[in-house]
Amino acid sequence: MPIQAFVFDLDGVITDTAEYHYRAWKRLADENGIPFTRADNEALRGVSRRESLLRLLNGRNITEAQAQAWMARKNGYYQQHLQYLRPADALPGVTAFLAAARSRGLKLAIASASRNARFVLNRLELTQRFDVIGDGRSVSEPKPSPDLFIWVADQLRIAPESAVVFEDAKAGVDAAKQAGCLTIGIGDAEVGHADIHLPDGLREARVESILNRLAAVRSTRG
Ligand code: BG6
Ligand code: MG
Repeated sequence: MPIQAFVFDLDGVITDTAEYHYRAWKRLADENGIPFTRADNEALRGVSRRESLLRLLNGRNITEAQAQAWMARKNGYYQQHLQYLRPADALPGVTAFLAAARSRGLKLAIASASRNARFVLNRLELTQRFDVIGDGRSVSEPKPSPDLFIWVADQLRIAPESAVVFEDAKAGVDAAKQAGCLTIGIGDAEVGHADIHLPDGLREARVESILNRLAAVRSTRG
């Protein structure tokens, strides 16, 4: 089955918003006397807003109304940071890689857990580069459920098996594998189980070399 599309996670693959998420959760945690460190924040990479709150609470009980209010407050803090996002905040190599993939005839899509994905892409001036944008509103079950990748493949009118997913989070690689996609792990988080691991992200990535390596992966799988 030919590879027809590259599907990108947003946060940590196209741009590094983890620091903004950290500052927003940290502010909420400080206001409520909950300990929260940068190391704790690493465990929230790729995790939905609600699951992030649960991990931050670490067993503390709050009501559903409080949870809703806290998630809204955190999102407000996060959006304050997003106002400063600029096209130059795309991670190194990203725009060249997108252009190369496009000229190779591949379809391009986003599959992000974030409800802010479209806003972020607009700030980066990258929205027009993608044929399909799946975000935190597209499906109800977040990663590691495969639903978002299946939804994106469906919108692209391709089989998930002909899509290559670029992900920086374990939950994302798990979700993409579950959907049947080929996977590229980005960065040094726990993504070593992806079909290909790119510790330096897209900085030095070349479309042809990735396609060749994936063909090799497929042939060894049989
Ligand atoms: C993911 C981020 O892309 O989106 C997570 O890696 C974040 O850190 C999740 O919690 C949900 O994002 P948002 O913007 O809807 O709160
Ligand atoms: Mg991510």
